[in-house]
Amino acid sequence: MKKSSLVLFPILVLAVLSMAVYPAPPKAKSVKYSKKVDAVIKAKCFGCHNSEGKAKKAMAKLKWDELTGLDQAEQLEKMKNIVGVLEKGSMPPARMVEKKPEMKLTDKETAILKKWSAKYSRKLSK
Ligand code: HEC
Repeated sequence: MKKSSLVLFPILVLAVLSMAVYPAPPKAKSVKYSKKVDAVIKAKCFGCHNSEGKAKKAMAKLKWDELTGLDQAEQLEKMKNIVGVLEKGSMPPARMVEKKPEMKLTDKETAILKKWSAKYSRKLSK
């Protein structure tokens, strides 16, 4: 064996061992939006559910602009709530839809959000 490899070998062993002892922490998962999903949310949900909003009750439940900053477990909780309101068809609230029928989610928009929220409910629970 060459002298240089005698020096390098123990360093290599140590490097491999330290990787085994200190595995990289698992990356926290986060919700992502496709353009399609983002467009629906901006049009039909964001107005009430954002950190600059005036609807205190809506803000307490969900702020889209702060969603991805939450930790994984909290994001999962929010996604489950979103799945819930989509199942019930309860958002946007009936009061608003009565005043502005154009705010109602179309079947296509509901399908887009359902698919997305189901996907992230699965992803974030792992
Ligand atoms: C007109 C304002 C308004 C719009 C638009 C709106 N929301 Fe809400 N949302 C509210 C209010 C107010 C509450 C709180 C209801 C309560 O506490 O009874 C709420 C609550 C929620 C909750 C929490 C429900 C729970 O079970 O805790 C979710 C999730 C939600 N909204 C999702 C959405 C989604 C998705 C959209 C778009 C499709 C949307 N909201 C559009 C006003 C709005």
